[in-house]
Amino acid sequence: MTDAPAREGELPLETDRLRLRPWRASDAAMHHKLWTERDPRVPPHRRIDAHGHPTVADLEDWAGRRDDTPPVGLLVAERKDTGEAIGYCGLIPNVHGQHDEPEIAFELLRRAWGQGYATEASWAIIRRAEASGCRRLWATVRDWNTASRRVLAKLGFVETGRVEPDEAHGDSLFVAKTLRPSVPPSP
Ligand SMILES: CC(C)(COP(=O)(O)OP(=O)(O)OC[C@H]1O[C@@H](n2cnc3c(N)ncnc32)[C@H](O)[C@@H]1OP(=O)(O)O)[C@@H](O)C(=O)NCCC(=O)NCCS
Repeated sequence: MTDAPAREGELPLETDRLRLRPWRASDAAMHHKLWTERDPRVPPHRRIDAHGHPTVADLEDWAGRRDDTPPVGLLVAERKDTGEAIGYCGLIPNVHGQHDEPEIAFELLRRAWGQGYATEASWAIIRRAEASGCRRLWATVRDWNTASRRVLAKLGFVETGRVEPDEAHGDSLFVAKTLRPSVPPSP
């Protein structure tokens, strides 16, 4: 992995095998495939609906409207050897509005699973979060999501004891990781 700390806003981020870059309209087909591949236990608002939405065109539009200003932002993960976009990784706003404690998020095409890509991409995002002054990162993960829980554990996220029960789709566990920000946190 590239160890040099990323400076705020400096893109793409690079790891040994991946490039993390902003979304392009041409990523919409890959993004749509991610939606179609989601586990049936994922709640309906994150699944393709009965009318086929979001469509590839909807997701192209979504990509064009993004504002990925650090510290938050989702980046497309692209393999450096083939140029293939395999998913995304990044930070989303904290539901409680704490600017310097965003949530990490990652999702990869099934054909890219099991090769360490999510962990590798997440480390680059964590370094960038530290460079942006983030003090802590959060993640919410369904209790049944073994792969994601394992990735988060490998990254050093720990369970906080906070759980949002959901009988229909699986309880959401709140995990967190304390960072060492390399710039003073915002007040
Ligand atoms: C979660 C996800 C991003 C992981 O991507 P990935 O590139 O395969 O992850 P990594 O290879 O870096 O690590 C996966 C780890 O989980 C382990 N794992 C995967 N499936 C597992 C299972 N069913 N049981 C036990 N361990 C499992 C792998 O062995 C690996 O751990 P290891 O390195 O100790 O062997 C991918 O599964 C995905 O896109 N899932 C759907 C979206 C999602 O759930 N996003 C997270 C929402 S919180």
